[in-house]
Amino acid sequence: MCLVCIKLRRLNIIIYVVRRHISSDSYKHIKMLKSLLNRLYISDDVLHKLSDTMRHEMDRGLSAKTTEEAEIKMLPTYVTGTPNGTEEGEFLALDLGGTNFRILLVKIVAGEEKEITMDSQIYHISKELMNGTGTQLFDHLVECLWDFLLKRGMMCQLLPIGFTFSFPTKHLGIDKTILIRWTKGYTASGVEGEDIGKLLNDAINRKFKIRCLNFDLKIMSTVVNDTVGTMISCGYDDNDTCMGMIVGTGTNMCYMEKQENIEVLGKNETGGEMCVNTEWGAFGDNSGSLKDIRTQFDIEIDEKSPNPGEHIFEKMISGMYMGEIVRLIILKLCSNREIFDGIASDSVLFHSGLSTAFVSHILNPKNSTDMLRSHLAGLGVIAEDEDIQKLIKICDAISTRAAHLCAAGVVAVAKKIKENRGDLNMTIGIDGSVYRKHPTFAKLFHAKVHDLCGELKIAFKESMDGSGRGAALVAAVECRLHNISTKTPESDDE
Ligand code: GLC
Repeated sequence: MCLVCIKLRRLNIIIYVVRRHISSDSYKHIKMLKSLLNRLYISDDVLHKLSDTMRHEMDRGLSAKTTEEAEIKMLPTYVTGTPNGTEEGEFLALDLGGTNFRILLVKIVAGEEKEITMDSQIYHISKELMNGTGTQLFDHLVECLWDFLLKRGMMCQLLPIGFTFSFPTKHLGIDKTILIRWTKGYTASGVEGEDIGKLLNDAINRKFKIRCLNFDLKIMSTVVNDTVGTMISCGYDDNDTCMGMIVGTGTNMCYMEKQENIEVLGKNETGGEMCVNTEWGAFGDNSGSLKDIRTQFDIEIDEKSPNPGEHIFEKMISGMYMGEIVRLIILKLCSNREIFDGIASDSVLFHSGLSTAFVSHILNPKNSTDMLRSHLAGLGVIAEDEDIQKLIKICDAISTRAAHLCAAGVVAVAKKIKENRGDLNMTIGIDGSVYRKHPTFAKLFHAKVHDLCGELKIAFKESMDGSGRGAALVAAVECRLHNISTKTPESDDE
């Protein structure tokens, strides 16, 4: 054989080996992506089982004997009265729950002109404040409040306050609210186990006493969970509203329960209904109810979080974790050179480098492949068309799983309401950035609720600013019940 022929033959053999290698490798990769996506898919059968387990945990939470060990705590909120349309006046609503603190001035008009107007401002809460001391955190909230009032020329005119405090709290009556534990990345010291209304009022006193000469120390502040605010806010417009759900930084649900079923209330119950804050984010914490569907990525997220072992359900769903799950999956695929040619940029490499807004951006149908490519380039990632398709599949799988898990939860709660009331029609008020801003979440969630809910007829009502507006309404109801004046006092500034 001539030299050239030998060389050509060798070259062919090399090309053949490389090809074999590439194709078996990409086969392995496709299999790996596929198996990851399969792992994230939850069948309707499994969703029904999860829903039944949640339903069972809800009963354990309501029962005095088992409430301590129950995963779903079913916390009584002492909110029994819903607005009846006669509430009126001006209220301040404070809303703390994620990375922002919102202050709202809410004006409620009763009667035929029935109307609610709001003027609001958002203040950022830095990581340092989330993880510093409680005094620093509450002093900062009051600094923001001072700024808000100052800008509106309302200093020293503290109105009744509705405080949406979106963490698990134990209510000892409507005016005493103890933080059970922090969630969503907060760890501020000296707050767990303390009365939130008192911490707020103490901080207000520290700031206002020196500035306002005739400052009245008694500020009426009602603390509510964001789910409760959302339910009350929607209930103001739609009488069938009996549930309030949040899917934002965290996720949670509240609903109206018969007081006689809330055993922890003891004999004080009056025979009516009371709103129960389920804190469903903690489903899966003790018994491993979610262990069959948790992935290595969920486990890693939990282990690296400030509250390992807690709020397991929430960590599979909410906005605080969605981007991070996607990032961990990309990292895994990168380590196999299965996406972005194995090159991970800083945004992929570092903890919390991708946000839920990133997931929303990838899934937004308005964004063409070219637009996504340049967005990724901005994050330091060079993406081929094939990479973008893979990324869309990953984001879609994570979002679908989150929406379907929420749907399983809603069906569990809706079945409980049906048992109590015998009514098949119910409306659920919903708020939260994932529900409102993610391009596919709401649709996926609605469709799955309808697949799973059988004969129940569940309507969805999105609630813009629900938690703040609702907190003001809860405060308004309290003022009505206790004859507290809600008119703006004459200005007596400094
Ligand atoms: C977390 C909090 C809960 C809140 C939810 C939504 O799960 O524990 O109280 O309602 O986030 O903000």
